[in-house]
Amino acid sequence: MALNRRHLLSLMAAGSGAAALPGLALANQPVDPVYAAFEAASREDPWTLGFTDAPSEGFDGVARRLHGRLPRGLAGVLHRNGPARFSRNEWRYRHWFDGDGMVHAWRLTPGRDVSHTARFVGTRKWQNEEAAGRFLVPTFGSNPPGSIGLRGPDDMNAANTSVMMLNGELMALWEGGSAWRLDPETLESRGSRDFHESLRGVPFSAHPKIDPDGTVWNFGQAASHDLLVLYQIGADGALRRAEMVDDIPGGMIHDFAVTDRSLVFLIGNLAFQRMQMPFLDSFGWDDSRGMRVVAIDKADWSRRRTWDMPPGFLFHVGGAWEDADGTIHVDAALSDDAEIATGHARDVMLGTPQLEHQSISRMRLITLHPDGRAEQSVFSDVCAEFPQVDPRYTGLARRFTWHVGWPDGHMRGATQLVQRDLVSGATQRFDFGTDIVVEEPLFIPNGDRAEEGEGWLVHTALNKRERATELHVFNARHIEDGPVTSWRLPYACPLGFHGCWRGV
Ligand SMILES: [Fe+2]
Repeated sequence: MALNRRHLLSLMAAGSGAAALPGLALANQPVDPVYAAFEAASREDPWTLGFTDAPSEGFDGVARRLHGRLPRGLAGVLHRNGPARFSRNEWRYRHWFDGDGMVHAWRLTPGRDVSHTARFVGTRKWQNEEAAGRFLVPTFGSNPPGSIGLRGPDDMNAANTSVMMLNGELMALWEGGSAWRLDPETLESRGSRDFHESLRGVPFSAHPKIDPDGTVWNFGQAASHDLLVLYQIGADGALRRAEMVDDIPGGMIHDFAVTDRSLVFLIGNLAFQRMQMPFLDSFGWDDSRGMRVVAIDKADWSRRRTWDMPPGFLFHVGGAWEDADGTIHVDAALSDDAEIATGHARDVMLGTPQLEHQSISRMRLITLHPDGRAEQSVFSDVCAEFPQVDPRYTGLARRFTWHVGWPDGHMRGATQLVQRDLVSGATQRFDFGTDIVVEEPLFIPNGDRAEEGEGWLVHTALNKRERATELHVFNARHIEDGPVTSWRLPYACPLGFHGCWRGV
């Protein structure tokens, strides 16, 4: 299917409720019960610091060294992104994923203190709502009072999910619209990143994949119309190819994987059903069929293979590789329901997580055979999220996966870092205990050592007892030894989602 931007944008506009939402009266606005509930919870539970509004001016600080030293060779900037503004005018968003994106820069220089800067992404939404002092547009999971209609997805672009560096350019990513350009030094926003004039405003997911040669692959989804837009971008940032592919079932797709030959999509059972606002309400659990896996040939996007699996849901994929006979191996954090998206991510806005809204997510290694059979094995004994691989092995046969973990029934975030050796089955873990909320670790290769797993895991964390955000560095091969160095800011930041590393 040829790419027709006008056609696609009209679909997206329909998907985001453009022209469907009349303005609502603001007079005599009652006390917002969600805002009030969170205010009450925040007086009792320091975990709510992870979902508390960041100041509009952002953060600037220096972290205090708790122990250890930054390893030689680990010099660079850890950029991270996550939702950080949840309420305005005493009205609070209903869903965690609605918050406006804040991009962080943690500067790591061996022999010096770790510094931290964070700024809100200056999207049109952010600028307009800052000026108005209230939320103006509907979001993924909320309809703020008085919301106005949308002209296209970028009107509600929260730029809150991830960041990527591409050819010296830093971008904040969100899956429903354009990437947003930032100055990597000042974090000042520079407007949307349009890979081609015809792609302005077209969704560009927050989980692009980068081949070892620097080629970038990504997708954007129009779940309402069973469509994906695929992107192939050179290491120089220039668009090589972008096309729509159709007949991709409209289960919510947040992440994907690449092999050296294929783009691999795991399509869960939180399925688009009928357009409603907020947009999340358009999706419902449908297990009348299984999960569908689609592998699209990198060289010829009209060639695809499909597999069916038992019903399930996922946000994040670890990585994939492909054997000579076409067998694909892919690992992912899978759960049997989507409560984390439809229940837990709403609970956190109230500040009171509910046990019945917990998803039991496990790392699973899936084998997709050329004859259409799909097999899977579970390899985590705790809840798992944010799987990571050595980026030098993206798309290639590999041995290690790292992820965060937490015990079943623990409702206030990850407490562990876990490494799994997929060959031997051995597991290493470090458990910080329940005072710490472990955020996504990033694998940073040791440039002196090419072997898989030679490098560091760097992650941030909320220390609830100290009411402060921390940064920890692990030797990726020796997770159970604990962090080699740890640093603590004099303040707490909202919890984020994803990051990238910019070596200097
Ligand atoms: Fe994600």
